[in-house]
Amino acid sequence: MKIAQITDLHIDLDGEYPFNIDVRKNFLDILELVVKESPDHLVVTGDFCVENGLEEIYLWIRSHLELLPFPYDIIAGNHDDSVIMANTFEMEHFLKDDEFYFAKKIGRTHCLFLDTSKGFHSENQVKWIKRQLKSNTEDLVVFMHHPPLESGVPFMDKKYPLQDMKAIQKVFLNYPNNISVFSGHYHVEKTVVYKNITLMITPACYFQISQNTSEFSVDHHRIGMRMIELDGGMVYSTVRYLDGNSVV
Ligand SMILES: [Fe+2]
Repeated sequence: MKIAQITDLHIDLDGEYPFNIDVRKNFLDILELVVKESPDHLVVTGDFCVENGLEEIYLWIRSHLELLPFPYDIIAGNHDDSVIMANTFEMEHFLKDDEFYFAKKIGRTHCLFLDTSKGFHSENQVKWIKRQLKSNTEDLVVFMHHPPLESGVPFMDKKYPLQDMKAIQKVFLNYPNNISVFSGHYHVEKTVVYKNITLMITPACYFQISQNTSEFSVDHHRIGMRMIELDGGMVYSTVRYLDGNSVV
């Protein structure tokens, strides 16, 4: 089972180029690369919109995702509106209050798709996660926008971390088996392992952030996607890059 992950699209309105980056072309180029990798499934892990969740941006993204020859799933990031997003993608049946989270099997692997768009999980969502972990005994895959571990990226760890990181870690650490977490948000490529949690952070389709500075600094403008292969308990993962598109 091959899953592609892309993240942090930060799409703006048509004709807008945030930081002089052609974010729409970046997304279309990455999608082309995803198709070449011929995955069985695609997961887009949040921050679809440059600043705030807008229906017209979701509609544009959806119009391209619908053309893919394989199924896809989506979760929200802190630059998304979970309700507008779920409605625009006709996934409103997954809304619980104003959060958009769900579980499903991809192939034989049980996957959780969480909503950290507020920067934390509601109490109800944490209860739901605990119930999910209780009813499973096998290794799990979790897709969530924010990394649930400190990741050695000083700017993001200090300024924009998951606010209930410790609480969610405790829930994951109580699980008797392994949890592979695939996140975005930090705009870096990183793997962090802590006990039964293996966290893989996937680079953005926007720009990457320096892993050495506590102030905001761009590392580079290449854009990335991750391939994940799940095969009988093994988890293989590779990141592929393309040159990003700038306008001068
Ligand atoms: Fe984010």
